[in-house]
Amino acid sequence: MATKTPNGRGDRLQVFRGTFIHSTDTSPLESLDAYIVGVNELGKIMFIDTADKDEELSVKWRFKRETIRVLQPRQEFFIPGLVDTHIHASQYPKMGSCLDLPLLQWLIKYTFPVEARFKDLKFAEDMYTKVVKRTLRNGTTTACYFATIHTDSSLKLCDVIDKFGQRAFVGKVCMDINDIYTEYKETTNESVKETERFVAELAKRKYPLVRPIVTPRFVPSCTSELLKQLGSFANANDLHIQSHISEARPEIDVVNNMFLNCKNYSDVYDVHGLLNDKTIMAHGVYLSDEELELFQKKGAGIAHCPNSNTSLCSGLMNVRNALNHKVNVGLGTDVSGGYSPSVLDAVRRAIDVSNILSLNTPGYEKLSYKEVFRLATLGGSKALGLDKLIGNFEVGKDFDAVLINTSVPNSPFEVFPEDTLMDIFQKFLFLGDDRNISEVYVAGKQVFPFAKS
Ligand code: GUN
Ligand code: FE
Repeated sequence: MATKTPNGRGDRLQVFRGTFIHSTDTSPLESLDAYIVGVNELGKIMFIDTADKDEELSVKWRFKRETIRVLQPRQEFFIPGLVDTHIHASQYPKMGSCLDLPLLQWLIKYTFPVEARFKDLKFAEDMYTKVVKRTLRNGTTTACYFATIHTDSSLKLCDVIDKFGQRAFVGKVCMDINDIYTEYKETTNESVKETERFVAELAKRKYPLVRPIVTPRFVPSCTSELLKQLGSFANANDLHIQSHISEARPEIDVVNNMFLNCKNYSDVYDVHGLLNDKTIMAHGVYLSDEELELFQKKGAGIAHCPNSNTSLCSGLMNVRNALNHKVNVGLGTDVSGGYSPSVLDAVRRAIDVSNILSLNTPGYEKLSYKEVFRLATLGGSKALGLDKLIGNFEVGKDFDAVLINTSVPNSPFEVFPEDTLMDIFQKFLFLGDDRNISEVYVAGKQVFPFAKS
């Protein structure tokens, strides 16, 4: 056993031997079978090589071959940590319920009231602990969270994420318009000042893996003045930005009526300084080609949230068109507009939507399961601007990884002798769940199974 350092990673190299399945820029799916991967005490991948080189590697990197963790062939394999590019931690209490209304009515009847409850720090801590544990056990190593308008409660979410070792962006939600559920909004000034306080307080905590993200809720909830000030603040401090865009037709009508001088929804964000290479926008179901070109030019990413888009009957997003425009696309669960906390579910829903679009879109090229797996990992990391750090198994990146075990008791699928490795991988992708996720690593540290406290 390696001695534990204060970061819990152990004071020397961790070495794994077995199968690693990931995506690269040139290949949507690459399977490294019989490979050996070394991870240093800072959680960085130091080497990746074929397993027959184990002796040379053990001399070069000074580890004992007996300490190599050997995965069971065909039964166990590593995939990169799953990236959830859009999730509302504060909607967790409603996850799996209240999906009978379209977006704007759903927000007023269910969503604003549940978010308002997060003013209560005890309630917030309890719910945030549940959502972070739930997503981690489902293999989400990186999440881009919306919290609520409450700064201290949003900081609680950061505390919980740090405690459990997930990698995340956290946004204190900003909204100064709410004509119907009037209890849940801020003044423009409060919203900006509290965002500044949130960012300053989070910086003081020095959490290594939790970063702030400036979060105007969406255009219908924000005055032009608020959007402008948030844009200036984000740009002055080089901060990431997240929001929603072009999710549902009635929402787009509201935006068009609010900003008569803007060309389109994307233009509204752009003129307020909110569309750049640190921006991730959720949904984008109805973005025009012109808007996708703007996204590409600015380097802004899209969080594709297929479960939410169908659950709230918002629409069917054409991901192929966004990819053809060279826009970075990741997957989002959008809990609780989406009813599942699992990025694997988002993979399946994305494939469903693409298949459905292919039925009535002449010339449409369906997304393959391999491409959608790339969206769930490397694509998400790019959409969040983290691809230098995570997204696949490359030397120099952090070891964010999920160990899959296909033969656990009660596994939701079976593996037969004639199955190829790609058959086994597909069975996991389409049928696997948290029962098959036996270990989760973030920056080399095992964060699941949870440490006994
Ligand atoms: N648009 C503005 N707020 C929300 C939200 O909480 N969920 C979804 N799906 N869309 C939104
Ligand atoms: Fe959302």
